[in-house]
Amino acid sequence: MNAVCEKEKTGFILDDVVLIGRTFDEYFRMFRLSEISTEDRILDAGGGVSAFAADATRLGYDVTALDPAYHCSHDDLAEKCAADLALTMMRARETTPLFRWDGLFGDVDDLTKHRRRAYLHFLDDYQNDRMRYHAGSLPATEYADNTFDIGLVSHLLFLYDAQRDYEFHKRAVRELARICSREVRIFPLINLAGERSVFLKCLMHDPDMLDLSFTVRRVPYEFLKGADEMLVVRRKT
Ligand SMILES: C[S@@+](CC[C@H](N)C(=O)[O-])C[C@H]1O[C@@H](n2cnc3c(N)ncnc32)[C@H](O)[C@@H]1O
Repeated sequence: MNAVCEKEKTGFILDDVVLIGRTFDEYFRMFRLSEISTEDRILDAGGGVSAFAADATRLGYDVTALDPAYHCSHDDLAEKCAADLALTMMRARETTPLFRWDGLFGDVDDLTKHRRRAYLHFLDDYQNDRMRYHAGSLPATEYADNTFDIGLVSHLLFLYDAQRDYEFHKRAVRELARICSREVRIFPLINLAGERSVFLKCLMHDPDMLDLSFTVRRVPYEFLKGADEMLVVRRKT
C-alpha cells in the first residue's frame, strides 16, 4: 500500500465499499446505453475496477472514470480487488437466494469468472493508459459545469445507504447534475438489505431539489432480485 492509498483507506472509502467491477455488457443493460451515442461525453462516477471505461473506449465511446481508488497504484489495486472479490463471492455463496441465476450468471463460479475478467481488463487498461482514470470523490469534484453530457453511477449511491448518509446522496446528485449537462443515470435503487432505499423518496420530495427532475425507469438487467430500475436525474431548465 502506498502513502496516498493508506490515506484514502483511513480517510473514508476503501474499507466500507468493496472494489468489485462489472463488465461493459452489464453497464449496457443497467443504463440502457443503446440510447447513448459515442459522441456523448460520459462520466462513470465511482467507476472503480469496472471494465466499462476500458471496453467502452475500445468501442469508440468517450468515457472518463472517477474514483478515489485511482489514487492507488496498479499493484495496490490488484491486491485489493482480488481480496474483495474473494470476500464478496464468499458472501454471495451464503446469500444465493437474493440473486437471479437464470440470466447473466449461472452460479457463483460463473459470477466469479465474470467479475475477475472485468477487473483484469480494468487493471490492464489502468496500467497502460491512466488518462481516463481520474482520482477524485463525490460529492465534490473539480470539474467545471457541463464537463460531461451523461453521468453514470453504478453500485454506489442508494446501494450503500447505510454507509453514506442522506446529505452525501443529496450533495452527490446535485454535483453530478452540475457537471453533466443532459442527465445522470443511477443504478440500482435498492440498498444492501435488498430494499428500495428511502433516500430515493427523500430526494424526489426534497424542497432543495425542486430544480431537478427525477424519473424511475425499468432496465433490462436484474441480478440482485428486485434491482431492475434506474433513476434518471435532469435539470429542469
Ligand atoms: C461497488 S464499487 C462499483 C464499481 C463500478 N461502478 C461497478 O459497478 O462495477 C463502488 C465504487 O465506489 C467507489 N467510491 C466510494 N466512495 C466514493 C466517493 N465518495 N466518490 C466516488 N466513488 C466512490 C469505490 O472506490 C468503488 O470503486
